[in-house]
Amino acid sequence: MNQSSSSSRVLSGMRPTGRLHLGHYHGVLKNWVELQHQHECFFFIADWHALTTHYDDPSVIPESIWDMVIDWLAAGVDSEAATLFVQSLVPEHAELHLLLSMITPLGWLERVPSYKDQQEKLKEKDLATYGFLGYPLLQSADILIYRASQVPVGEDQVAHVELTREVARRFNHIYGREPDFEEKAEQARKKMGKRAAKQFTQLQRAYQEQGDPQALEDGRALLQAQQNINTEERERLLGYLEGSGRLILVEPQPLLTKASKMPGLDGQKMSKSYENTISLREKPEHVEQMLKRMPTDTNRVRRTDPGDPQKCPVWQFHLVYSDDGTKQWVEEGCRSAAIGCLDCKGPVIESVLNELNPMQQRAAEFEAQPDLVRRIITEGSERARVVAQETMREVREAMSLRGFES
Ligand code: TRP
Ligand code: SF4
Repeated sequence: MNQSSSSSRVLSGMRPTGRLHLGHYHGVLKNWVELQHQHECFFFIADWHALTTHYDDPSVIPESIWDMVIDWLAAGVDSEAATLFVQSLVPEHAELHLLLSMITPLGWLERVPSYKDQQEKLKEKDLATYGFLGYPLLQSADILIYRASQVPVGEDQVAHVELTREVARRFNHIYGREPDFEEKAEQARKKMGKRAAKQFTQLQRAYQEQGDPQALEDGRALLQAQQNINTEERERLLGYLEGSGRLILVEPQPLLTKASKMPGLDGQKMSKSYENTISLREKPEHVEQMLKRMPTDTNRVRRTDPGDPQKCPVWQFHLVYSDDGTKQWVEEGCRSAAIGCLDCKGPVIESVLNELNPMQQRAAEFEAQPDLVRRIITEGSERARVVAQETMREVREAMSLRGFES
C-alpha cells in the first residue's frame, strides 16, 4: 500500500450499474490502476447513489455490486494497493451528508447542472425527490469524509467536485472559527520549533499581504512535513496560513480523466444505453463474432470498392489499439481496396482479445473464490470506516455535537 499522506489522498466512486465494459476500462479503471501505485487510494461502490434513481427497483443492486467488484479486480484494481469498499457499509457518509445538509443552501443544489438534465433524461421516473436533489451533497460527503485532495472524475462530475469545494469552505468558515482561534494557532506555530515557526510567518505574510501563491504552497508543504504537531494543530495552522478559520474539511480538486475515446461497436461512444458495448467478461468467441459483424464504411459494398477509414467505426478501434505501421496498412489498404474489411478487423480482434484475456483470467479466479471477494470488501470497508470515523469525531466536535458530555 502507498503510505503517502492525506495531502495526496485520492477518492473515487462508481454507481453499481452491473457488468463493466471496455468503455469503463479505458475511461476509468485503467486510470485507477495507475493511481493506486502513486497515491493512497479509496475506491468505492456508491450503492446509496444508485437508490437516488433506482429507488423503485433496488433488488438488482446487490448483484450489480458483486459484478462491479469482480470487474474492478479483473481490471487490475488491487485490494492491497487501494482500499475498496461499499458506501452503505460506512454509514458515517450518511451522517456527514445530514450535517452538511444543514449548511447547504437549496440554490446550490438546484443549480447543479445534472439536476435538471437527469430529470429531463429520465422522464419516465419521478425524480422530484429529496434524495435526488441532495445526491450531489451525498457525493460531497463521500469525498470530504476521507479528506481526499484529488477526485478522478469525468467531465460530467466536475460540477459536483466544485460544489464539494464550496461546501467545505462554508463548513470551515462557520465551524473553524473558534473564539480563541488565533491564540491556539500561535501556540501550534511555536510548537513547530524556532526555524519552522519563523518560516511559517514569512510564508503567511507573503501569501496574505502579496497574494503569492507559491508561498501558500510552500506553507502547506512546510506544515505537512512537521512531526511535532497533531492533525488538529495542522488544520488550525493551515487555516491560519490562508487567513480563514481552522480547515477541518479539505477542499478537493477534480482530477480530470481524459475523455475516453473508446468507441462502441457502432462507432458512437461505448455505452450501455446504445447497446454497443463489449463487456469485460464477454466470451472470446462472442467478442470475435461481434467485431466481425461490426458495420464498416457503407461505400464498400463489394470487396473491390475502395473505402474511407474516416467513415468507418473499425478505424476508431485502430486508433485505440494499433501501432503506426498497422494504421498505415489500413489507410492504404482501405482506400485502394487492397484489403478486405475482415482482413482489416483482424488486428483489432487480436488486440481486444489480448487485452481481455488477463482480465478474464483474473475474473475467473475471483469468481471461484466468493469468500475472498467478500473479505476484500468487508476489510476494505472497515479500513475506510476508521478514517471516516476520525473525520466525524472532529466534525461533531466542531459542530458542538457532544451529546450529554459537557
Ligand atoms: N456520482 C458519481 C457518478 O455518477 C459516483 C460517485 C458518487 C462519486 N460519489 C462519488 C464519484 C465521490 C467520485 C467521488 O459517476
Ligand atoms: Fe473500415 Fe477497414 Fe473496411 Fe476500411 S477496410 S471500411 S477501415 S473495416
